[in-house]
Order: sequence, then structure tokens, then C-alpha cells
Amino acid sequence: MCGIVGAIADRNIVPILIEGLRRLEYRGYDSAGLAILNGTGHLRRLRTVGKVRKLQDALAETPVEGHLGIAHTRWATHGVPSERNAHPHISRDGIAIVHNGIIENHEELREELSKLGYQFTSETDTEVIAHRIHFHKQKLGDIFRAVRATVAELEGAYALAVVSEDAPDSMILARAGCPVVIGVGNNENFVASDVAALLPVTRKFIFLDEGDVAEIRRTSVRIVDHEGNNAQREVRESSLSADAAEKGEYAHYMLKEIHEQPRAIAQTLEERVAGGKLLEAAFGPLATEVFRRCEAVQIVACGTSYHAGAVAKYYIEQIARLPCWVEIASEYRYRNPVVPKNTLFVSISQSGETADTLAALRMAKQSGYLSTLSICNVPESSLVRESELVLLTRAGPEIGVASTKAFTTQLCALGMLVIALAKFHGTDPERERGLVQRLIEIPGLIEKTLHLDETIKKLAERFADKHHALFLGRGQMHPIAMEGALKLKEISYIHAEAYPAGELKHGPLALVDADMPVIAVAPNNDLLEKLKSNLQEVRARGGELYVFADPDSGFQPSEGVTVITMPKHVSHFQASAVYTVPLQLLAYHCAILKGTDVDQPRNLAKSVTVE
Ligand code: G6P
Repeated sequence: MCGIVGAIADRNIVPILIEGLRRLEYRGYDSAGLAILNGTGHLRRLRTVGKVRKLQDALAETPVEGHLGIAHTRWATHGVPSERNAHPHISRDGIAIVHNGIIENHEELREELSKLGYQFTSETDTEVIAHRIHFHKQKLGDIFRAVRATVAELEGAYALAVVSEDAPDSMILARAGCPVVIGVGNNENFVASDVAALLPVTRKFIFLDEGDVAEIRRTSVRIVDHEGNNAQREVRESSLSADAAEKGEYAHYMLKEIHEQPRAIAQTLEERVAGGKLLEAAFGPLATEVFRRCEAVQIVACGTSYHAGAVAKYYIEQIARLPCWVEIASEYRYRNPVVPKNTLFVSISQSGETADTLAALRMAKQSGYLSTLSICNVPESSLVRESELVLLTRAGPEIGVASTKAFTTQLCALGMLVIALAKFHGTDPERERGLVQRLIEIPGLIEKTLHLDETIKKLAERFADKHHALFLGRGQMHPIAMEGALKLKEISYIHAEAYPAGELKHGPLALVDADMPVIAVAPNNDLLEKLKSNLQEVRARGGELYVFADPDSGFQPSEGVTVITMPKHVSHFQASAVYTVPLQLLAYHCAILKGTDVDQPRNLAKSVTVE
């Protein structure tokens, strides 16, 4: 979850590293640093606590220039955020490294190194790697072989970039379990944990495989696989534009991403549904047989992506009439699940690099599933590369830590999965046509919902001084209530919980008073009347109610009841995506009023590549 950038060029690479770090800040932002080499001189290292801006300020005071360097933005795992724990870490003789991931056997290695006389200046697992490389380099002579020998000893997950004073023309890169790419330039090369960091300097990328170690020079790249054989990895062209990851006219990435939802969903559906049908192109020809044979579905994901899976369960059971289970990846991976015959394993992830989701997929591949499908937003991610079937959401880069457009595009992708499964399990073409039509209408409905922005901004004023909030929904709207609560806590730090409204009287009702706003998502569906009764229970206890409701739902504003009217005629199949949007806006405006850091909330990170 940290960000790595490196560059080797015939020009000063410091601005490239800083711009790369800025673009990677979503991965972690508690400290930043760089180490630069210029010719055969000594390494210059600069580290600061806080965001990349602080490092920029430090550079303005102490300018550093060079043609080879590595840089890092950190999300602390071992050791508090502090200058001494910030990367790069340096060992003897000018070996500097930046690292993303977690080394599980670091204590053991640290003990051995201490006995050998190595002095530690930080509490990080990373420093162990730096000294270990130095230790091997003394015996093996060169840095590339020393890195190979070191990674062979590491247990855990890592992406590493290494430079050494006595090898001023190369940088070494290694990966296992954490993403890292090589950006190929003209007589210059780059490395980063994400293509987005390098888009201003190149569109050509090489993706390393698990266990690869690479030596990167200005004009060449040499890769060795985990067995030590020379390996060729394809150079791929990214279609992302450099400004795809910019805020543009918006105050925050999150706000931009909320407003991008209609377009992102339209893109996700493009060339996959047409003429009232789901096209084979959506999941590819290999999927047809899988869907035909599928008798059950197991969905696994984390965070917001888990909520998308929880919605899909309702659709898969109701529309395709297949049993479906949804589980949080960090739990699933430590169970010993019984896999019913012909069960399809579906993983959902924005980044495709979430460690627990990836581990669950790897476990599933050994567990006798019918096939593995990933629904993911990053084409080059590990999850995509390791799944048999893939459906890419086309949300574009999502930078705000609180996921928004990734979620609604996941819901639409899952909508396509439901249609695909239903096709082989009893749905007639007429029903398919109806469902496809519902999907196509979602961008327009979200567009209309976005017009509620001003109303919700005013509403947020009544929340900003609250310490708790309760979100209620029933059926497929319960996961939407969960998503609303998650958004609010992630960025405004207001404690929020979600409950299926029928469960209120089994506990949460005890908390309800005038200081606990209760937010209900109430589209016009089969459970509306039940929900209304549940909401009466809240009113009877003096709770303040905020109901996002269909104009035909019959909710009337009254004392203590605020009704926010949603667009008309939102169907069951559309409501989950459409009703999410006002909850995203509510969280956003509460955060603005509270003055929190919307895009980079405290203690969180966008991509959780550690367990
Ligand atoms: C982190 C992010 C969340 C995200 C979750 C799962 O916690 O902050 O926004 O939902 O990881 O990430 P994924 O990339 O697998 O969807």
C-alpha cells in the first residue's frame, strides 16, 4: 500500500519522482522520501513526515538533482510514521531501497543481522532487506545477484526498488505479491507501483511476473524469473491519458469521481449490451460453457467491493435462481469451505491488488471451483491476470480513497453477470431485454440524482455535529445502507452503522434519540411497507429520520421526518446504484463541513496490498 517510483535518465529525474509520488499518494501518505545518485557521487537522501507536499518543501530548501533515483510514499505497517521509519532505507556502502509490502520473517532476519554487527536505525521490516542485500553483495560482488539472493530468503509480500552507489547506471527491481511496473521511455526508464505514476513520461509498460527480478538501465531492461532464467515480458501500451488521474475543475477527486459515474457506467456497458441483449463479448466465449454449467456462485471481496457482492447475491438468487454466497475475503481465506459442485468463484476488486482478495482467489483455484471470474477496474492487475474469466469495469483511475465510481460500475458489471447467468437458467429473451434496458437507463437516473447535490449539501449541515448515525435498508438496499455508513465513517469520521431495518428492535433501537440521525433508503419495492413500519419505530423513540424515497412511495415530510425525493420510476434492478449516489454526496458534504481530508482520510489507503 505504499507507493514506489524510480527513474534512470539523462536528465534530472527529481521532478519525475515527485510527480510520480504525487500521483501515488492515494496508496499511502504518512511520510515520503527519495534517494538520488548523480554519477559516481554519494547517495543523497531526503525524508519527511506527512504528505508529498512536505517533501517538495524540503527539496525547495535543499535542492537535490540526479540522473538515477528512487522515491517512496508510505503507509505505515511496521513502525510509526516518522522520519527514521520513512523510506528509502540505506545500508552500508550506499545501498538504498524502497519497499512496498510486508516481510513476515523480518524478526528472524533482523536477529541474524544484528549478530553480524548491522546497526538498525528504524523499526521497519524494510531496513532488514537493505542490510541483507549488503550482506549478500559482499560475498557475491554485484547488486543484482545480491538482490536475488535476498529475495530468496524473504517470506511475505514485496515490491522493491534498489540502487547502489557502486552501480550508478542501474536500478534493481523485484516483485512478489505486490504490484510494480517498468515504464519504458526513449533512452530512459522508470519504475512505479502503478502506471498512473508514470503517465506523464511514458505509455509503454512492462509488468513483472511474480518472483521476477529486473535490472533497469537507461537503454535496457533485463528480467530474470524466479528460477533464475532470463525472461521476456511483453511491452504493453496503456490507453490511459495523463490527465485521467487529475482533479480538473473539482475540489476533490472524490467529488470528480462521484460526478463521473454516469459516464463510467455507460463505458462499462458499452459494446457489452446492445439490441436488448447481453453480448457474448461481455465475458468472452470461454464464459458461455461456464455459465451453462454453473449451479451456484461464491463471491469474495473486501470493503466497498464486498458491498457490491452483497447486492449481487439478491439479484443472482432472485433473477438467475442460483444459490449465491458472499464473503469478506480476509475471512474466507482462513476457512475451509465446502465447495458445492459447479460453483463459480467471483472476486470483485477495484484495484485487483487487495492482498486478501488475491489470496482468496489463489485458494479458490485449488478448491475445485467450476471457474474463477474477476470483476475488476485495473486491466493489468494481479487479480485479472490470475483469473480465468474477467469482466473489467471501465471506471478509469479512481484516486479518492473512498470508493465511488468503482462501486457503481461494479454493480452494473454484476448486473451483466446476473443477466448472463439467468440466460442459461430460465430467463426468456423478453426478460433479458427488460433487464438490459434497466441497466442502460442507470447513467441517466444517476445524472438526475446528481441534481440533488445542493439539497444534500444543506442536509449535511444537520449531520456535521453528530457523533453517530444509523443507516437502514431492507433486502438489496441493506448493502447500500452499509455502503452509505462506510462512506460517512471513512471520510467524515462520524461513527455510522447499517442495519437491515427489520433488525432494529433487536438492539439498535436502544441507541435512537434526537442526537442519532437515522437515514433510510426507501425505493418503491416489495419491502417498502415493512420498512415504513420499522421507521415508525424510530419516530416513536424521537429519532430524526432522513428518508431517500421514490416520489410514489407515499412518504410525507413531517416533524422529525425529512424526505429527499429521488428520481421517479427507479426499478428494483436499478435502485442499488441510483440510491448509493446521494449517500456518497452526504458523506462528501459532511466531510467538507468537518474539514477532514476527503481524498486521503486518516489511517486509510486506497489499495491494501498487505494482509
Ligand atoms: C481499501 C479501500 C476501499 C476498498 C477496499 C477494497 O480499503 O480504501 O475503498 O473498497 O480497499 O479494495 P479493492 O481494490 O479490492 O476494491
